[in-house]
Amino acid sequence: VSRPIYGVIDLDLPGPTISRHLYGHFAEHLGNCIYGGFFAPGATKVPTRDGIRLDIVEALKALDIPNLRWPGGCFADEYHWMDGVGPRTNRPTMVNSNWGSVVEDNSFGTHEFMELCELLDAEPYISANIGSGTVREASEWIEYLTREDDSPMARLRRANGRDEPWKIRFWGLGNEPWGCGGRFSAEAYAQVARTFGLYGREHNGNQLYRIAAGANNDDYHWTEVLMKSLGYQIGSGEVRGEGAGGFDAISFHYYTLQGGWEAKGLATEFGLDEYYRTVFAAARIETLLAGHSAIMDAYDPEKKIGLVLDEWGTWFDVEPGTNPGFLFQQNTLRDAIVAGIHFDAFHRHADRLAMANIAQTVNVLQAMILTDGDDMVLTPTYHVFEMNKGHHDARALDIRMVGDLPSIEVGEKRVPIVSLSASTKQGRILISLTNAHAEEITEVTLDLRGAHLGSPVGRILTAATLNAHNTTAAPTSVAPRAFEGVALEQGLLRVYLPRHSFVTIEIPTE
Ligand code: AHR
Repeated sequence: VSRPIYGVIDLDLPGPTISRHLYGHFAEHLGNCIYGGFFAPGATKVPTRDGIRLDIVEALKALDIPNLRWPGGCFADEYHWMDGVGPRTNRPTMVNSNWGSVVEDNSFGTHEFMELCELLDAEPYISANIGSGTVREASEWIEYLTREDDSPMARLRRANGRDEPWKIRFWGLGNEPWGCGGRFSAEAYAQVARTFGLYGREHNGNQLYRIAAGANNDDYHWTEVLMKSLGYQIGSGEVRGEGAGGFDAISFHYYTLQGGWEAKGLATEFGLDEYYRTVFAAARIETLLAGHSAIMDAYDPEKKIGLVLDEWGTWFDVEPGTNPGFLFQQNTLRDAIVAGIHFDAFHRHADRLAMANIAQTVNVLQAMILTDGDDMVLTPTYHVFEMNKGHHDARALDIRMVGDLPSIEVGEKRVPIVSLSASTKQGRILISLTNAHAEEITEVTLDLRGAHLGSPVGRILTAATLNAHNTTAAPTSVAPRAFEGVALEQGLLRVYLPRHSFVTIEIPTE
């Protein structure tokens, strides 16, 4: 048993709202995320609508997925949207040079994506092509999507079968512009982002939330350059000059890599060292969120500009025998622990973090859903999203810990092993707890002050082994169960947190 931990939550002092968009998703034209994943016109055993798999849609609807980012990723900066509209037989093909060099037939394009979002009841988040596209192309895409009257692009949309314009809020200005998105310097990109931001016009009352593509990991310089380019003056929050209005948010990407790019390891085969290195890497998200937020706070203390983590998750070697360019990896209890740690950090930074998107929703990297032909399985990560649903748009609750949270020494690293966060919404609180320790139970006591409490209901996600995962043959090896290790007495909540587990506790308040 690890050292017991003790914390205090003032239930009558709720903090910032945890945007539901922190539970956002990402679907790239990569491997079998779109083709053979979301989009399977040839499927015979599963229901589809216009080629979109409805079993996948149903599973994701159960997560209340708030948004879906598309078409990339690196693919976005080579994607020319006009090639993906109109009769399918007329659509030109292209080479997907980032992902396996496969030929893309453009059969999944703007209309298909917008239909998918409508089916999912999720907001679209489109990443425009900045790296190899033109300002005009991006500008016309917005016109095509959102304009009502008889403008050239609205007319084209109608000719392609869609009369009503769509609404689109989230508009990405490229992707990883320091790398696959154009090899820009921060300074050069800041200028380009402002130009694309400017010509991304708002038609018929459609309001864009323009997201500038941001830093890799801890490239705080990138964030600072973008903040300055908006005309923010350090320390004052005032905007001067012509910078204002270029974009509303700045993104960054962070992947959990246990051994760096050269030694990612397999998703299902790992030792304790690799496991703890993964936990350590996942916990680093806290430092990165704090670092980017600190830079932004210095320029914009009123937090008008949002921070967006539009790619996060584990990145392991592909499953043996699969295409290395398709990034297909299994998903184990270890991934669920990584997700739990990330969400706690997201909740703590809800005042600045406007959106986060896991990479990626189906069949790629840390996926929610893995397909095998017409079959599919829900991964452990899926279940963390589901168990945490109650945090969407809830008010974050600060947890004041007495003493430091426990950590263990692994090699030269201090690995934090317990993570927790809480929120309140509509007469109930939700507490999420992750025990990353591979062997020991942790006893957590939380002093819940400031409300009358009903009976707690616990759920747990765990398994006998850290590499437990779901397959079509055993789809529920890792699935949530009722959790009994919780007791509430006179406002003191005691949780006996089993080793390698993710737990949620919901308590009604009066
Ligand atoms: O998610 C896979 C890739 O990772 C994305 O295309 C890119 O943005 C990142 O490097």
